[in-house]
Amino acid sequence: MQKISRSLFRNGETVGLVPTMGYLHEGHISLIKKARKNAAKVITSIFVNPTQFGPGEDYETYPRDIERDSEIAKKAGTDYVFVPGAKDMYPADFATFVEVKEMDSIMCGAFRPGHFRGVCTVVLKLFNIIYPSMAYFGLKDYQQYLIIKKMAAELNLPVKIVGCPIIREKDGLAMSSRNKYLTEKERRSATVLYRNLIFAKAGIIEGERDMLKLQKSCINNIKSNESISKIEYFDFRDGTTLKEIKSLERAEGMKIPEKLLVATAAYIGRTRLIDNIVLNIKNICKPGAKGV
Ligand code: PAJ
Repeated sequence: MQKISRSLFRNGETVGLVPTMGYLHEGHISLIKKARKNAAKVITSIFVNPTQFGPGEDYETYPRDIERDSEIAKKAGTDYVFVPGAKDMYPADFATFVEVKEMDSIMCGAFRPGHFRGVCTVVLKLFNIIYPSMAYFGLKDYQQYLIIKKMAAELNLPVKIVGCPIIREKDGLAMSSRNKYLTEKERRSATVLYRNLIFAKAGIIEGERDMLKLQKSCINNIKSNESISKIEYFDFRDGTTLKEIKSLERAEGMKIPEKLLVATAAYIGRTRLIDNIVLNIKNICKPGAKGV
């Protein structure tokens, strides 16, 4: 792969990289299509990265189907599908890791210690193997997107990190490789996450400024769904810094974020799902404004 990348780089081709863990769906396809539009060559990587899974998580059972994925990736516009082996990426004595401190220990990071360290390490390795000019990430994993953007900026990586919108099923459920785990009943219940994100948005549009109050209502709503086995968080955060936002009241010394991230993570049965929306607060909080 590195030989090919080097020759593309020498020829001055712009390379767009789409890192994935496979079991591709419309969300991944949208990233590949975006890369296809912007870059001369598109490389899609498929690698279920062991270092970002914690003990007891689904590394072993994560769905894998390389043949199907390669077909889908090529059809969507991929020039090269990169499928490294776990031992190639992590030889037995592997000892080097990259961390983006603080941002990696809140939200998903608080419940999955070491997860973002694994993500950053593998993504940096992919960048060093592929030399992309642009790399495409879904805003479904909003925290991951911000962390990788920060890593790229702080380590002076010559790659533009491009965030792409969340692709949803018709009923609002964010597409995810893990949706495959859901039983029929759980699948029907799974929309409860998105419905509550929209409930929070509606609350803010109607004038609610107390985010702790909204948080409480949304957590109660989600908990009352019988398929929900655990809710990890339902947070209101600054969409740029991930700082917690408790109120949108314009009080002295309080900065209201331009973008408000509303993000949640919960277990439907044994399946962990995440979702989020980003609200343009300036539009929403203007008197008479309609929202996003
Ligand atoms: P994976 O979960 O396979 O996702 C690969 C990329 O697809 C990520 O950037 C993710 O945000 C994006 N994606 C997933 N579902 C999406 C949806 N419904 N709409 C839009 N984009 C979506 O994220 C990972 O893999 C890994 O952590 C990785 C970055 C590859 C590092 O191992």
